[in-house]
Amino acid sequence: MTILKILEFPDPKLRITASPIDTFNDELQETIDDMFETMYAAPGIGLAATQVDIHKRLLVTDISAEKNQPYVMINPEVTKNEGNINSNEGCLSIPGYQDDVARYETISIKYLDRHGVSHEEELNGLLAICVQHEIDHLNGKLFIDYLSEAKRQKIRKLIQKQEKYSTNTESAG
Ligand code: NI
Repeated sequence: MTILKILEFPDPKLRITASPIDTFNDELQETIDDMFETMYAAPGIGLAATQVDIHKRLLVTDISAEKNQPYVMINPEVTKNEGNINSNEGCLSIPGYQDDVARYETISIKYLDRHGVSHEEELNGLLAICVQHEIDHLNGKLFIDYLSEAKRQKIRKLIQKQEKYSTNTESAG
């Protein structure tokens, strides 16, 4: 397995709309395994293929503390949503920043698993929030898009500062 490089805001590739998957081959299984490894190593609770520069409708999540409840969702589609909840979110593509966004409390979702088998489930709580966040990635959308332009400017500056810092550290070390 390989740890994949995670794209960071404001990389324009994070804005690409992912295409549906129709082939369930070995390459797909390898991508899924690599995405889990990348997510667990980060560490994070969700990762969309878009974030690792693969523009296919695929996401992985695991919200358990023990890292033993892996979920793979291919071509996920929200069929119903209910209730509203305020969610404090972060994103592996926007390191060092968290903010509140409005999400649905409960969603019904239709998706294919890694073998192409169709499932339909109702999700709530953190898993529902996480899946909404990851589906947004597949549509080229980031959680900071729900915030004001002034806040996004601030985040851009914050990320530039971090990049400058890491470049300096590399040249120093
Ligand atoms: Ni994210």
